[in-house]
Amino acid sequence: MTGNQEILGFLKTSIGRKWVVALTGLILIAFVVVHMAGNLQMFAPTADAINRYAYLLKSNSLLLWAFRLVLLTAVAGHIWAALSLARENRVAKPVDYAVRGRKSRLHVTLASVTMVISGTVILGFVIFHLLHFTAQVVDRSYVSLETVVDGKTMHDVHRMVVQGFSKPLISGFYILAMGLLFFHLRHGAASVFQTLGIRDRNLSKVIDAGSWILAVVLFLGFSSIPVAVLLGFWKL
Ligand code: HEM
Repeated sequence: MTGNQEILGFLKTSIGRKWVVALTGLILIAFVVVHMAGNLQMFAPTADAINRYAYLLKSNSLLLWAFRLVLLTAVAGHIWAALSLARENRVAKPVDYAVRGRKSRLHVTLASVTMVISGTVILGFVIFHLLHFTAQVVDRSYVSLETVVDGKTMHDVHRMVVQGFSKPLISGFYILAMGLLFFHLRHGAASVFQTLGIRDRNLSKVIDAGSWILAVVLFLGFSSIPVAVLLGFWKL
């Protein structure tokens, strides 16, 4: 068997696809943590910080597109593997539960349904978010927002974010999506360790607490920005 055939064979097994969900999930978690940390520069003393940062990220287009390709592949792999597992889970569900196994099976099914629903809303959010702040097609006026930092003319990302979140409906949608991201990560981050076989009785509490803390920090970190805009923290 060639290496490629071995990989394809592994992906056909449910363990193989669980590994895909776990590893791509880790890539996506790393991205959201870094993205949140970068976004918190909104609170720096001057708007220059986040504008300089956004400018730097886009200054090498080869690196930017390589990074986007990795991110896109991770998202596609995560969705494909997770949906195929969820479908299999449903098909395999017996009509009559054995009394002993009933509770845990119901629990597993509920978790997987919740993950599919929260994941779908998060995907919808990401598509909207890309149209909003990256492609800037939701409000074309963002394109012409410019500022000068260190003698260089660049996009005024700080102003775009403040303008974007000054619409309560848009801010509300972001906060709702961050809430679903919280639920998705609280369950998902802990499951990664189970899939990779790192979870045992002693570690279990630490992993659950860690997933909880990660989900809370991300929720508060991301939501703080639309909330600050709605509270009038920055003047337009
Ligand atoms: C309040 C929360 C958030 C704010 C203020 C925010 C801000 C931004 C901004 C300003 C950009 C565009 C940067 C630029 O083109 O100059 C961006 C891009 C992006 N954001 Fe967010 N973001 C938030 C939450 C999220 C979340 C929760 C996710 C993922 C679940 C996410 C995923 C992305 C992605 C994938 C990009 C495109 C990166 C690229 O250009 O390759 N963002 N975000």
